[in-house]
Amino acid sequence: MNNISILEFIKKSPKAELHLHIEGTLEPEQMFALAKRNNVQIPFKNINEAKKAYNFSNLESFLKIYYEGAKVLLKEKDFFELTWAYALKCKEDNIVHTEIFFDPQTHTNRGISFDIVINGIYKALKKAENEFGLSFKIIMCFLRHLSEEECFKILDQALVHKDKIFGVGLDSSEMGNPPKKFEKLFKKAVENNFITVAHAGEEGPPEYIWEALKLLNVKRIDHGVQCLKDEKLVEKLSTNQTPLTVCPLSNIKLKVFDKLYDHNLKKMLDKKLMVTINSDDPAYFGGYLNQNLIETQAALNLSFKDIKTLLINSFKSSFLSEERKKEYINKI
Ligand code: ADE
Ligand code: ZN
Repeated sequence: MNNISILEFIKKSPKAELHLHIEGTLEPEQMFALAKRNNVQIPFKNINEAKKAYNFSNLESFLKIYYEGAKVLLKEKDFFELTWAYALKCKEDNIVHTEIFFDPQTHTNRGISFDIVINGIYKALKKAENEFGLSFKIIMCFLRHLSEEECFKILDQALVHKDKIFGVGLDSSEMGNPPKKFEKLFKKAVENNFITVAHAGEEGPPEYIWEALKLLNVKRIDHGVQCLKDEKLVEKLSTNQTPLTVCPLSNIKLKVFDKLYDHNLKKMLDKKLMVTINSDDPAYFGGYLNQNLIETQAALNLSFKDIKTLLINSFKSSFLSEERKKEYINKI
C-alpha cells in the first residue's frame, strides 16, 4: 500500500472515538459567537488572539484556558449546538460510534444546572443517532483537582440521569491528584452500575495507572502513555488487553513529547498493548480524529497493518455490544 491509499483508508474506514471532551470541541469561532449571544466576557480580543493563546507548556496551562472558554456555555441550546457541531465532525471523519466525556462540575460550579448540561448534550447526540446513525455513550468526568466530597454530590445528581450517562471518568490536573483520592467515590459509582475509566499516566507516573486499575476498577485507561516506564505494568496491560485511549496531537500540544516523531505509540503497538487513537480536545489541539490518525501515521511511519489494528482496536475497546463490534470491524 502506498501513502495515498493509507490516507484514503484512514478517511473512509468506519471508526470509534473513545476519548473526546465535548467542552474541548468548542472552536474559537463558536466561542466568540456564544460569548456575544450570552454577553459573557472572554479573555481574547478576537479569534486570532485566541488561537495564538493555544500555545501550551503543559496540561495545567491548557486547563486554565479550557475552563475560561467553557464559561460561554450557559443554556441548553448552547450545549446542544456545541455537541451538534461535534456530531457533524463525526460524520465528516466517518466516526460511527463515539464515547464522549463531559465535565458537569465545570458548569454547575458556575451556577448552571446539571439538567441543562446533560439535556443539551443528550438531545444533540440523539438527533445525530436518528439522522445519520451515529451511536454514542456519555461518560461523566469528575474534576480531580476538586475534593472527593464535592464529587460525591455530582455523582448523586448523575444518578437521576442514569438513563443517559453510561459511565464515569476522572480528568483535570493529574499531578498531585492520584486515583486513590477517589477510591470511595468510584466504589459508589460501580455499585450504581456505572462503568469506570480514568485519565492516568498522561503526565503522571505509572503508579497512577496501577492505582486506577486496582482501586478504581477501570475498564480503560485514558492516555496511559507513561506506562512504558514500568515493565511489569506493560506486561499487565498487555496480558489483560486493557484499552489505552492515546491522543497523539494532545500529547504534543501539552509537551508530553517534543515532537510527534518522538511519540511512543508505535512502541506501545509493538508491545501488543490495546492502543487506540483519539482527539481529546480537538478545538485546542489542532485536529479531529482523522487528523490525529493521518499525522501520527506520517510521523511514525505506521504501516497499513498498524492503522488497521488501531481502527479495529477502537471498536474492540468501545462499550458497544460484542455483536455491534463485530459488525463494524467487518466493515474495516
Ligand atoms: N480535560 C480536558 N482535557 C484533558 C486532558 N487531556 N487531561 C486531563 N483533563 C482534561
Ligand atoms: Zn482527556
